[in-house]
Amino acid sequence: MFAVHLVAFYFTKLKEDQIKKVDRFLYHMRLSDETLLDIKARFQAEMEKGLRKDTNPTASVKMLPTFVRAIPDGSENGEFLSLDLGGSKFRVLKVQVSEEGKRNVQMESQFYPTPNEIIRGNGSELFDYVVDCLADFMKTKDLKHKKFPLGLTFSFPCKQTKLEEGVLLSWTKKFKARGVQDTDVVGHLTKAMKKHPDMDVDILALVNDTVGTMMTCAYDDPYCEVGVIIGTGTNACYMEDMSNIDLVEGDEGRMCINTEWGAFGDDGALEDIRTEFDRELDLGSLNPGKQLFEKMISGLYLGELVRLILLKMARAGLLFGSKKSSALHTKGKIETRHVAAMEKYKEGLANTREILTDLGLEPSEADCIAVQHVCTIVSFRSANLCAAALAAILTRLRENKKLVRLRTTVGMDGTLYKIHPQYPKRLHKVVRKLVPNCDVRFLLSECGSAKGAAMVTAVASRVQAQRKRIDEVLALFRLTHEHLVDMQEKMRVELEYGLKRKTHPMATVKMLPTYVYGMPDGTEKGKFLALDLGGTNFRVLLVKIRRGRKSVRMYNKIFAIPLEIMQGTGEELFDHIVQCIADFLDYMGLKGAQLPLGFTFSFPCRQTSIDKGILIEWTKGFKATDCEGEDVVDMLREAIKRRNEFDLDIVAVVNDTVGTMMTCAYEDPNCEIGLIAGTGSNVCYMEEMRNIELVDEDEGRMCINTEWGGFGDNGCMDDIRTQYDKEVDEGSLNPGKQRYEKMTSGMYLGEIVRQILIDLTKQGLLFRGQVSERLRTRGIFETKFLSQIESDRLALLQVRGILQQLGLDSTCEDSIVVKEVCGAVSRRAAQLCGSGLAAIVEKRRQDQGLEQLRITVGVDGTLYKLHPHFSRILQETVKELAPQCDVTFMLSEDGSGKGAALITAVAKRLQQPWREN
Ligand code: BG6
Ligand code: BG6
Ligand code: GLC
Ligand code: GLC
Repeated sequence: MFAVHLVAFYFTKLKEDQIKKVDRFLYHMRLSDETLLDIKARFQAEMEKGLRKDTNPTASVKMLPTFVRAIPDGSENGEFLSLDLGGSKFRVLKVQVSEEGKRNVQMESQFYPTPNEIIRGNGSELFDYVVDCLADFMKTKDLKHKKFPLGLTFSFPCKQTKLEEGVLLSWTKKFKARGVQDTDVVGHLTKAMKKHPDMDVDILALVNDTVGTMMTCAYDDPYCEVGVIIGTGTNACYMEDMSNIDLVEGDEGRMCINTEWGAFGDDGALEDIRTEFDRELDLGSLNPGKQLFEKMISGLYLGELVRLILLKMARAGLLFGSKKSSALHTKGKIETRHVAAMEKYKEGLANTREILTDLGLEPSEADCIAVQHVCTIVSFRSANLCAAALAAILTRLRENKKLVRLRTTVGMDGTLYKIHPQYPKRLHKVVRKLVPNCDVRFLLSECGSAKGAAMVTAVASRVQAQRKRIDEVLALFRLTHEHLVDMQEKMRVELEYGLKRKTHPMATVKMLPTYVYGMPDGTEKGKFLALDLGGTNFRVLLVKIRRGRKSVRMYNKIFAIPLEIMQGTGEELFDHIVQCIADFLDYMGLKGAQLPLGFTFSFPCRQTSIDKGILIEWTKGFKATDCEGEDVVDMLREAIKRRNEFDLDIVAVVNDTVGTMMTCAYEDPNCEIGLIAGTGSNVCYMEEMRNIELVDEDEGRMCINTEWGGFGDNGCMDDIRTQYDKEVDEGSLNPGKQRYEKMTSGMYLGEIVRQILIDLTKQGLLFRGQVSERLRTRGIFETKFLSQIESDRLALLQVRGILQQLGLDSTCEDSIVVKEVCGAVSRRAAQLCGSGLAAIVEKRRQDQGLEQLRITVGVDGTLYKLHPHFSRILQETVKELAPQCDVTFMLSEDGSGKGAALITAVAKRLQQPWREN
């Protein structure tokens, strides 16, 4: 008994002495809690520095955006190839992520060696080798017949501007291939693949191993938002709020940041804790001065640190009786796996003896105890440093989320963490001590980062496929120059058709004579009433024109026309109009005044004089019964009679295009065309009388209301009409009619957009595949919303806001797509409108036999006025298609009521002598 106690006492004493000796010797490597908190704070500052645009260039911790925006949600599926290059082992894998519902991942993989002459030789040879291994893998697994998306795990610092690209900032760890730094790694790989024509592989994602690890773990645990590698190298990534990432546009959501924490201290920030051993190790490394934090922590360096310490201790006579072996002098002879073995709980001491003996040393019991303790101090310091940096990340996450307590999971990988018997425990404990307000779960990535890389690739591949389908839809709306020329020519044919007596009855562009012969000349005067019906607003106006001074004063009031009136009976409609007039007269204090009235009526009317207009058919949103085929002036007169309160002298009925032209011509006599791009679309212009076969006069000119909205009703545009145009047409009040108008005007553009969005949603490409009630609602995309969505001044978030206002719950990606759809539809509208207008100005130029025509177009309509791009594209198209016409676009500020009043004034003057006679 006594002997046993004595031995135990002797051993304990021996151990204590050795530990004290080593502790003293490595005093500098033992970091107090205070120091760790200090390092944590320094790393927090480093992260901030790396994230900020102004400080990033000089930051040593690069905080690289990865373009991975979300953790897996379980909807990933497909078959992917994966390369895992940069850790201790190079692997090629095939990953199959199974159908939705059951989260199931199957992997097949093959390791390939990475000899030093390859990883430190020529860059192109390295990538050739990598691709050769991939080719071999595909051949063995019989995968060559199929196209595969590939995700590349590349465990080095890369600057990314998108997921499928990464410029290598510098090699780290054991790699140093020439000609790769500062170039795109994916580009190298793609180039190498070209040498294998039988290989059909599309590299969709490049991810750092930390990111792969985080994603692997997040597939099983949605709380995982950090990935840490403690292997050959060390590094971490985490999900950062986009609003904190200066280097990437957008503030929505989160993005994974690859911190590249291995470079912490490269600017001298850790000099106070670095030891002589760290400096010596650094000098002997492939990248002196770089990755200083990593060199205190990771597997590639830990054994070497131990060796340098042992050598120094032996030299100082503290170990091995001052004897050194040549192996102890040789770089790399002690590896991390040795350190791990020496620290094993039970066999550790025996392992230590064996390892030291293998190194040609003859260790005593005391030596073994001391060496074991050296290992502990070195690996403990490693875990402590990792814990401090990780604590900084966790604190940042907690603060970003504004939480008092954070519950989170950290995905872990790397051989040091995995094979070292005490490492995980120590790390976890210190982290929990440093961040007591975080509940951290550490999850080991069992199957490496390739699984996570496959998740990223799955998302990228889905996005790519979706993009392709979205692009296919948008392509339907893209018009070539040839298309536009074709439209211009066809429009020209239709214009002639409408003017000729013989062809007029079949013409789709009706070319209606308006009995407006000339432009205002400034002699007009008087007080007039005007009505303006058929655009977005119904207005009643009082217009006072003063002779000579070209001064016009207007008073107006907007009235609503309820849908049930627009689509009720004709009598109801006209009674309502008269009611509004009565209100207006009342409001203006003009009760009983018998004023001449000009009626802007924005629908196709067959006129035989200025004050007669037989409605051919309703267009746009009107559908009142018993009006088509009737004279609307008569209907108005009868309604006034029915009311029997006042009398009005209805002098003229004019189309809104004509009113607009006149409004503008009052300012610019060169204005001979009126264009409306609003609820509807239409043009009028001054035509030579001799060309108007429906009117038996040959002298002078008359304004023709083209009613070009009906263009295409004979099928001549079918080659460019899409299924969406057809759906909009079928759902309209006048199916089969006004096809051109339905592709170009405000009332329908939003509807086309809506049809496309419904289709894309049904295809699962938008709004999470849910066609909401709101999206099924006709007319939600009014012109003003389209205009807002397409405004260049709006950030994505604001677009999303507008969509949400419309009741469409969209993500940021959805908002981008919606904006693109709006853009494609409105662009086509402006181009089509431009090709029509080009046909008109060209006709005018040719009819007058001019080399060059100078002409002004008066324009009105909400689409033209509100939309941020419509007017520009329209004008560009006209210029492109009618280069010999110098067209000025003049915006009608005052609406067509003023023009209608001017026409009324002229008509009144012409009436007067006749009446007096
Ligand atoms: C592996 C991952 O499990 O761990 C690699 O699949 C990663 O992507 C590696 O680089 C890190 O550990 P080590 O020890 O191999 O460098
Ligand atoms: C107005 C005119 O300014 O524009 C109306 O006064 C015209 O006569 C209208 O119908 C066209 O635009 P929108 O967008 O209201 O149909
Ligand atoms: C090195 C690399 C880094 C990688 C880490 C772990 O630090 O620079 O990108 O994540 O090693 O493999
Ligand atoms: C519709 C009408 C037309 C009007 C145009 C613009 O096309 O048929 O008369 O000019 O809309 O309001």
